[in-house]
Amino acid sequence: MRDDSRKLDYIEQVKVPVGELAIGMFVSALDRPWEETPFLFQGFEIKEESDIDAIAQHCRYVYIDSQRTRVLRPSYGTPGGSGSYFRHPPAPRTTAFAKELEVAVTARAKTSSLIKSFMDDIKFGRSIDVQLARSAVSECVASVTRNPEAMMFLAQIRHKDEYTSEHSFDVCVYAIVLGRQIGMQPNELENLGTCGLLHDMGKVSIPPEVLLKKGQLTDEEFALMKKHTLFGRDILMSSRNLFSGAVDVAYAHHENMDGSGYPRGLQGHQLSQNTRIVAVADRYDAITSERVYQKGRTHMEAITLLNKAASKQHLDNSLTVGFVSALGVFPAGSIVELTSGEIAIVLSQNPQHRLRPQILVVRDSRQLPVTNRYVDLAEVETDADGTPYKIKAMHHAGSFGIHLTDFQQEITKAFG
Ligand SMILES: [Fe+2]
Repeated sequence: MRDDSRKLDYIEQVKVPVGELAIGMFVSALDRPWEETPFLFQGFEIKEESDIDAIAQHCRYVYIDSQRTRVLRPSYGTPGGSGSYFRHPPAPRTTAFAKELEVAVTARAKTSSLIKSFMDDIKFGRSIDVQLARSAVSECVASVTRNPEAMMFLAQIRHKDEYTSEHSFDVCVYAIVLGRQIGMQPNELENLGTCGLLHDMGKVSIPPEVLLKKGQLTDEEFALMKKHTLFGRDILMSSRNLFSGAVDVAYAHHENMDGSGYPRGLQGHQLSQNTRIVAVADRYDAITSERVYQKGRTHMEAITLLNKAASKQHLDNSLTVGFVSALGVFPAGSIVELTSGEIAIVLSQNPQHRLRPQILVVRDSRQLPVTNRYVDLAEVETDADGTPYKIKAMHHAGSFGIHLTDFQQEITKAFG
């Protein structure tokens, strides 16, 4: 029970920001006198989304009677200003990168195939089972908790034709990585990862000629594209083992902190912590991924754009800072160019030397393939001629024809 919860007439009441309200919650007190609102003073159960919208017009937070609430609430982490998300530093890593990669590959395959089967279910009008998503996500949470870099490496893998399923997995991973960074607990991370995995399910209902259009969308097409938030909400509302937190995130992940987002133009205080986290993860993955209509940007370019979005109050500033810090300077899976002209894949960052990670060199200075050349840049500061040996540039995913999947096995074998 948190500090801002209170006991009143033996009823346990929990203070909840409007952005974290969900259908099934019982509102027993407001942040203002009942007489100043149109609501019944004896309290009421939230029955539909429009009830939440109505509360949002009058209140910033309300008190929920936990005993009369029918749904499990999402994370109650209340943002109260810069840095308030951060409970404690993330736990230290407990496995080596290559060892974790082996396990993470299996978890990724399971999660991706589940998402594909969900997409088929939605296309054929069948309901999806959120509990299946949660159990797949729990393996991702366990992996990220042990060592986030293996999952981050896998999130950098790109296949052009698997846009929605890869994006879902990536956002799930990046959200968990950020959640871990701010000290969220495993159960909260499972909720958060499930929200990330399912946030864009509404895209399945967007016609491919709009979703995958190469040119700019017309006004009508963009209006239709925006509806994926409503479609996602409806799909998740009719799912088995309904999870209200995921409904909320699917509906609200394109809202902006300053109220300029869609579909409802909600303000920051109306957005749940999970929604804010998924929004950051979603934006990062959208910027770095290759699409039919755009080339993927590098990590550095993405960080610049994320910071811009945070300064314009589109994204939560504090969480954006946490995300940048969690990913580090050269995230695992990045393709980098060395001062020698060689090209390498980043494997694992060194917390003591953030500019000198462990790398796998895959092209020589003439761009010809190289095998089994692992270098720990923290230990090799100059080349054979005494010239400084370091990373001089980052390249976007897929550059030089380098596909991370081609190296997965080699890496796990080399270190396994
Ligand atoms: Fe979306």
